[in-house]
Amino acid sequence: MQMQVKIGLSGFGHVGRNFAALLAEKEGDLSRRYSLDLQLVLAANSRGAVSAENGLDPGLLGRLQASRDLDGLKGFTAGLTGPAAVAAAGAAVWVEATPSPAREGFEPAFTNMKLAIAGGIHVVTLSKGPLVHAFAEIMELAAAAGVKIKYSGATAAALPTVDVALASLAGSRITAVEGILNGTSNYILTCMEEEGLDFAGALARARQQGIAEPDPSLDVGGWDTAYKLLIIANTLFGGAFTLEHMDVQGIEGIGPADQEAARRLGGTLKLVGSARLTGEGYILQAGPQILPGRHPLAGVRGTSKGIHFVSDTLGPLTVLGGPSDPRGAAAAALKDIINLYQRG
Ligand SMILES: NC(=O)c1ccc[n+]([C@@H]2O[C@H](COP(=O)([O-])OP(=O)(O)OC[C@H]3O[C@@H](n4cnc5c(N)ncnc54)[C@H](OP(=O)(O)O)[C@@H]3O)[C@@H](O)[C@H]2O)c1
Repeated sequence: MQMQVKIGLSGFGHVGRNFAALLAEKEGDLSRRYSLDLQLVLAANSRGAVSAENGLDPGLLGRLQASRDLDGLKGFTAGLTGPAAVAAAGAAVWVEATPSPAREGFEPAFTNMKLAIAGGIHVVTLSKGPLVHAFAEIMELAAAAGVKIKYSGATAAALPTVDVALASLAGSRITAVEGILNGTSNYILTCMEEEGLDFAGALARARQQGIAEPDPSLDVGGWDTAYKLLIIANTLFGGAFTLEHMDVQGIEGIGPADQEAARRLGGTLKLVGSARLTGEGYILQAGPQILPGRHPLAGVRGTSKGIHFVSDTLGPLTVLGGPSDPRGAAAAALKDIINLYQRG
């Protein structure tokens, strides 16, 4: 028997459009393999939304080229966005794919998420901001309301991180987590190492390739890595860490001489987010580190990512891969929805 699940989507940019396209592309698979009939009932950008009680055409939405193309669709309601959209959607799952610079704040995602939780709607978020700044509050609200919060898209997206730790390392004590969690920074460091470019040259290359944002400071400053690591650490180790607990450094000051020095030591320089259990509890950091050549993350190149766990009973475990692109991020949100209904 098919389970019908109505989905509201806030944010119709690169990820939101890919999410709609995936719903269309995977419709048959979702039905056959998971007995899920996922209906997109609302899709909003910053100016308004299209909605349909019995489901929009995700294929049509997924073929749109830009967020603003939503405005031209028949039935577009100007102003139906944010809290009004959450209230109107009648959804069982709210997918939050709005920008989340996290450094400046965490709206509109935070208000949308709280309203969804209060309405008994499960939340799948790609926006990191609310989880960076208010992890414990969100989890408490969700527990009280009996709804689930899933956030693979906010913790390295297509690279599975918290899922692996929670499911595959269940019952063990995780004593260390290390991750290469930001594809842009890793691409820049790889270009510097392999092609002898300096930081500015490698950043220019990343921009040419469409890999670096116009403002890359969150990525190269170590903040994106720190945000992801913080969310992972709060998930695994209890929800009490804040950015104040973290030492955060970027790669802007790294030069060819630093990489040569790392090479002479038999290692390689990477931007790593880490949480390690010490006698004084977990120490959280994000910054450049020399990884020894034999380290499982030392060979992660280009926009690839990776995460390495050490646990008391299940030993070391490394996960590598996960494309750093909007389709991969959208697929991570889809995975979250499937797991929400398959595993809880
Ligand atoms: N791109 C990736 O590969 C990737 C990977 C992992 C996670 N993420 C996360 O996913 C989220 C979306 O990323 P993206 O690349 O899709 O961003 P994007 O292309 O900039 O799209 C953002 C969307 O959010 C909408 N929006 C902005 N403010 C809004 C508001 N107040 N209410 C409703 N909608 C609003 C924008 O609408 P307008 O066009 O009207 O402004 C646009 O449709 C971000 O939080 C990002 O960090 C992205």
